[in-house]
Formats: sequence, structure tokens, C-alpha cells
Amino acid sequence: MVCLGNICRSPLAEGILQHKAWKAGLNWSVESAGTSGFQKGESPHPFSQKVAREKGIDISRQRARKFEAGDFDHYDKIYAMSEDVLEAIRHIAKNKFDSSKAGLLLNELNAAKNLDIPDPWHAPEAIYHLVYKMIEEACDAIIKKYSTFNPDSYQDQFSILNNK
Ligand code: 4NP
Repeated sequence: MVCLGNICRSPLAEGILQHKAWKAGLNWSVESAGTSGFQKGESPHPFSQKVAREKGIDISRQRARKFEAGDFDHYDKIYAMSEDVLEAIRHIAKNKFDSSKAGLLLNELNAAKNLDIPDPWHAPEAIYHLVYKMIEEACDAIIKKYSTFNPDSYQDQFSILNNK
């Protein structure tokens, strides 16, 4: 999950997708980074922490880091929060950029619409709730897309049906 500073949008996206993956029984490792690196080492923005905490997600232990080209070696998917961020990812990654891995987060919700998650830096708290909702809906779409049908999870019910 990548934004500009790695303190407002992408820490929320990391927390939300990691939380939903755990709940869905998916063994995913979700992380985040920023293309600027200006806030390296900082905690998520207080409003991001607050809106996440209100939903039962603790993002307080995250620390900002800068996106690097090698992230294309370590991650299966790289989601940019906005088009400017996707451009910056392309610039940082250079020949490691892989268009099959990188894309806009909201395209998981509205394919090819190329919508941005707005940058909430200096915005009031209400905007952080909106950002949370947009990210959450996209993460729900991701979980649905990558969750595979597992017949084993229905075995108990079938045993009851077959009187076993
Ligand atoms: P983020 O928000 O990219 O969602 O973490 C921002 C954080 C910091 C700045 C801009 C956006 N900044 O200009 O320092």
C-alpha cells in the first residue's frame, strides 16, 4: 500500500487490508510505504490512528518508510493510492517497475476508472472517515477477488448431512 508520505492513507490501507485478511483466514503480509520519504520513521497521522481505532484496528505501531525499487521483488501486489503516487513508484522503480503488480487501489473497486483516494493531509477529521470508507470498500473487493473457494471448510456441515 503506497501513498506520498506513508502517514495518512497507506497506513490505513495497510491496517485495513491486514485486518480483513486475518479475518478471512488469508496468510497475507501487508505493508506500506511512501514515495516521498519526508516523514520517514514517523507514526501514522493522529486522525488516521483515530479512525482506525474506532473500527478496532490499531495502526499506532506502524512507522513511515520510503518506497524502494526492491519492493517489486518482495511483494506480489503494489497498490498506489493515487495517480501521482503511481507515477512516483514508476520513477523510483525504473526497470524493476512491473505493471502486472502495480496499480491504483480504487481500480479494484471501479476497474479502469483511475480514481484517486484524495490526499487528506491538512484536511479535517471528516475527510479521514471518507478516506477510510473508500479504502475499506476497495479492500473488501480485494479479499473477495483473491479468496478461493475451499471445500474443506464445508466438511463439518456435510458430515452432519450424511449423518457421520
Ligand atoms: P499521505 O498524506 O500521502 O496520505 O501520507 C500526506 C502526508 C504528508 C504530505 C502530503 C501528503 N506532505 O506533504 O508532507
